[in-house]
Amino acid sequence: MKERIKKLLDDISSLKAANKDELEALRIKYLSKKGEISSLFNDFRNVANEQKREVGQLLNQLKDAAQTKINELKVSVESNSDAQEAMDLTRTPDPIELGTRHPLSIVKNEIVDIFSRIGFTIAEGPEVEDDWHVFSALNFPPEHPARDMQDTFFITRDPDVLLRTHTSSVQSRVMLNQKPPIRVLCPGRVYRNEAISYRAHCFFHQIEGLYIDKNVSFADLRQALLYFAKEMFGEDTKIRLRPSYFPFTEPSAEMDISCDLCGGKGCAFCKGTGWVEILGCGMVDPNVLENCGIDSKVYTGYAFGLGVERITNLKFKVKDLRMFSENDVRFLDQFKSAY
Ligand code: PHE
Repeated sequence: MKERIKKLLDDISSLKAANKDELEALRIKYLSKKGEISSLFNDFRNVANEQKREVGQLLNQLKDAAQTKINELKVSVESNSDAQEAMDLTRTPDPIELGTRHPLSIVKNEIVDIFSRIGFTIAEGPEVEDDWHVFSALNFPPEHPARDMQDTFFITRDPDVLLRTHTSSVQSRVMLNQKPPIRVLCPGRVYRNEAISYRAHCFFHQIEGLYIDKNVSFADLRQALLYFAKEMFGEDTKIRLRPSYFPFTEPSAEMDISCDLCGGKGCAFCKGTGWVEILGCGMVDPNVLENCGIDSKVYTGYAFGLGVERITNLKFKVKDLRMFSENDVRFLDQFKSAY
């Protein structure tokens, strides 16, 4: 009897079942009323009294082992068949949710694209700059208010290390390092010490354009900007240039585009004028060319600078500039289809 029990214990420990039918056959073989273990229990009456205790324990042990093994096999057979049912290889996969490009990046990329079609390439420079590249080289007189603490974030004084207040600083770097013809676009972040409100922030983004060659004229500037305005805001867009002043350009101008909300008739958005200002521009001042080692008798050039936030506001009608830096996904999600 003991021998039979030990043999069965051995058999049970190595049982295997590939599916539900095989498992059921094993259950019947070992655990049913007519199964092997039951028949051992039936034979138990014939065991000699002095062995009953030991054999009884062995029998219970065998029954427990068989029950545990069958339960284990049941779990593994079921999980196998679950996996087979869940895996439908013909099903179309769930689409992967796309992230959103930031509205400022969408507009920056579009502007870069437009100008790259007329030969502009990208140039970049550091955000932490020195006085020379941001102001002196660009013909800012020493007492110019833009150098004042109110506008500029200084990191150290004397030597002046500061956060650039405009991307025109990249202009100085490019002119120092490249020979004309130069045709570059300089996108980047700039910093000014301003109170944060819906219409001003202490940092924002600019794109500066610079073209230097022989015989570059104001008419070239105007034509490039007209092309840009039409590409960006639509074929019907008109531009107008108003005289202005920048230390690094002479003559200087500010450019307006016809208000696309009212079609130029005048509305609250354009304050009744029919025009909205979008950028500053002008012919590079000969002093700037000379400061950067370019012969101003041979070469002329134009430059323009625009605020990416401003163009983005016009394009997407965002009313509060602070939205751009708050990372609110409810705002950012709205630009999913914009590129
Ligand atoms: N740098 C000027 C600004 O920050 C913009 C500008 C660039 C004007 C180039 C003229 C030429 O406002």
